[in-house]
Amino acid sequence: MAFITIEGSDGSGKSTLATLIKEYFHRSQINGVFTREPGGTKLGEELRALILNYKMTCLTELFLYEAARAEHVETVIVPALKSGVHVICDRFIHSSLAYQGAGRGISSHLIHQLNTAATGGLEPDLVIWLTITPEKALERLHSRASEKNRFDAESKSFHDVVYRSFCEMAAADPRFISLDAGQSPSQVFASLLSQPRWKTI
Ligand code: TYD
Repeated sequence: MAFITIEGSDGSGKSTLATLIKEYFHRSQINGVFTREPGGTKLGEELRALILNYKMTCLTELFLYEAARAEHVETVIVPALKSGVHVICDRFIHSSLAYQGAGRGISSHLIHQLNTAATGGLEPDLVIWLTITPEKALERLHSRASEKNRFDAESKSFHDVVYRSFCEMAAADPRFISLDAGQSPSQVFASLLSQPRWKTI
């Protein structure tokens, strides 16, 4: 069974892609659990609300993401994989490396250690990365004026550093499938389906 994560900035279309994958699984009678981080469990959703609504130190934030992850992996992701179901997760360990590591400046060594402690060593088989520059993501979010976005809460340089970190991880890690998020949702989905690595799942 495959464990697939979706990474990308606010405005990159992660949730639209997750919905398209869900519909595709349904049509093809493939079983999948769709989940997200931070969140994915009752406690994880409470932690998500704390993280996203309170100002806190960088380390506190990291520990809360990892606490939510530990709960999520042990009670949702591993049981689903063991029962023979694919798991699709909106964000996972690479978000911690990009946001808390590159973005907030916490050592990647510490983040790797905490990721491993929280996941028991579970790693995604595939990482779908929706590539969009911070400039384009911001433009897109501002054009949907009704939608609340978290992008504006951080500086341009923060988003630049996070974006560069994802570019570096994607270039170094063969599990990454980079998809151009500037395309329409159906084009993004079609390019995912055409990937040789996607066809192996
Ligand atoms: P998400 O729900 O994907 O929201 P958005 O679409 O606004 O990006 O993620 C919420 C935020 O959590 C997002 O700003 C990225 C952040 N995050 C981290 O900083 N570290 C992590 O480990 C995870 C899982 C998320």
